[in-house]
Formats: sequence, C-alpha cells, structure tokens
Amino acid sequence: MRDFLTRLPKAELHLHIEGSLEPELMFALAERNGIALPYATVEDVRAAYDFSDLQSFLDLYYQGMSVLQTAQDFHDLAMDYFRRAHAEGVVHVEMHFDPQAHLARGIELQVVMEGLSLARREAARELGLSTALIMAFLRDRDADEALKVLEEAAPYWEMLDAVGLDSAEQGNPPEKFAEVFERARCLGIPRVAHAGEEGPPAYIRGALDHLGVCRIDHGVRCLEDPELVARLRDEQTVLTVCPLSNVRLKVVERLEDHPLPRLLAEGLNVTLNSDDPAYFGGGMLENFLACQRAFGWDEATFRRLAGNAIEAAFVDEARRDELR
Ligand code: ADE
Ligand code: ZN
Repeated sequence: MRDFLTRLPKAELHLHIEGSLEPELMFALAERNGIALPYATVEDVRAAYDFSDLQSFLDLYYQGMSVLQTAQDFHDLAMDYFRRAHAEGVVHVEMHFDPQAHLARGIELQVVMEGLSLARREAARELGLSTALIMAFLRDRDADEALKVLEEAAPYWEMLDAVGLDSAEQGNPPEKFAEVFERARCLGIPRVAHAGEEGPPAYIRGALDHLGVCRIDHGVRCLEDPELVARLRDEQTVLTVCPLSNVRLKVVERLEDHPLPRLLAEGLNVTLNSDDPAYFGGGMLENFLACQRAFGWDEATFRRLAGNAIEAAFVDEARRDELR
C-alpha cells in the first residue's frame, strides 16, 4: 500500500507554506539571520509541538516564522517543501501564505512574493510540480486591515489563484470579511475559507453565503447540521480535510474517531491534505498512510480522494489532463 500511495498522483489543496517550516530549516535560517530562538535543539522544537487546540498551535506557528526575513528565505522554505512533496508523489501544491503575519513584523509583501515566485518557477522547471498561490487573511485581525492588504497586493493580483481565510476561527465568523471577499470577487479572484475546523456549522454556511467560497478548508463540523450536509452534497462543495492536523489540534482525539468515513458515506466531495506538515507529524503521504491504517480504505477509495483534488485544483484544463 505504501508503494501504491506514493505512486498515486496527489494534488494538495490545503497547505500553509509557513507551516512547512521544518525545525532544521528554522535553525539554519535563524543562524543565517542572527535571530535567537527559544529552543536549544531541533529535538526541543519538536517536543514543544504538543498542542491543546488551534490557538496553542498558532502561537508557535507565528513565532516560528520569525526566521523568515528575506526573499531567499521564502524561496528556501518553499523549495524545501516542494522537494519533499515531490518525493512523496505530490504533483500539484496549492499553498496558502499569510501576508499579514509578515507585514506585522516588518517584512514587505514584495519580499514574500519574490521568494515564493522564484520557488514556484524552480519547482515547475526542476520537479515538474505545478503550484498555486492562495493569499490568506487572518480572521483574528480587522477586516479593514485585510482590505488594505488586498489593495496593496494589486501588483500581484494576477499571480493569486485565490484568497483565503485562516487563523483563530472561534469568535471570528466569515461575515466579518464579507466586504473583503466581495472586493476579491469583483477582481475575479476565486475564494476559499477555513470553516468548521473548530468553529460551528454556521461558519461553513457563512463562508458559502457571505464569502462566495468555492471550497471549504476543513469543514469537518458540517456533520452536526444535516441540512448543511445535504447542501454540500448537492453542490459538491470541496472540503479540504486535514486528518493529522485534526488529531494534533484535538479536533478529534484519535484518527480512528475522525468523521472522514462519515463524510465519504454522505457523498461529500472530500480531499486529503496536510495543512501544516512540519507541525502535525507529516506531509501528504503520511496523511494518506495514517488514513489507511485508521480506516482500512482500499485503493479505489484513495483514487477517488486523490481524483477529487485534481478535479478541484486551480489549474487549466491542459494541466488537469496531465494530472489525471
Ligand atoms: N493557519 C495555519 N494553519 C491553520 C489552521 N489549521 N487553521 C487555521 N489557521 C491556520
Ligand atoms: Zn489550514
């Protein structure tokens, strides 16, 4: 099964590139940039990744990215991930990035975009890996700030495959960002949003009704609302589910308790993704393998899940044909 799951062409639709920062690279970049880390060793970093919920992870996630200072750093971060993903049979990666988390510590958008763009071209050329870019807004910050960032990103609008919404979900409903997402719609930029990870089903409805999203990131709590499940099934809205993330952030206690089998039985359009692989114990292959162990799925089920992601990817039809 490991061979089959490695060879299976996998598209990843839900990855935070800052969450792919492995402790080894964190140390290397800290040294290169003269930044002090609150850890003595790589092992100390990994030992600190013992989360009780989303916020406890976000605290370390925002702290970890402080080592990213230059375009070269963002390039190295992304290439490091693209190489690992490629070795696991990933053929397409759609990466979220968090411009506000970098702007807030004095790193200009241009620095981020230059580094990521360079890495994307290199990945296409050297690995045959296609990539897409999702600029995410931090939902625990003001909508005004998000709108300002969207306007500031004008030189890069053409390079954005979508805008997204992430960070602390509880108490930050999608409606807060209706105006920002309406502006993105007017600009012709597709929209996705995290919803129903820790937040209630109402946030999934809110993302569909007020943000006009084409995909829901996570969405696992939809099962608490049968009418919403029926709608997601009828509209075949893609859910970018992240199994190991949900275990590490205590959305579920054990993978065996994860609602994935129920989501599939309901006929929902499910995909498997890694979210923040450096923090949650593995990338795409580990997520697929963990599901195999927990649910005993057959090859046909994994083909269906991988196929769902390829059909939903932000690629042109020529590339989609290559990925199929
Ligand atoms: N930012 C990075 N990972 C995230 C997650 N799993 N949920 C919300 N925001 C995030
Ligand atoms: Zn996420």
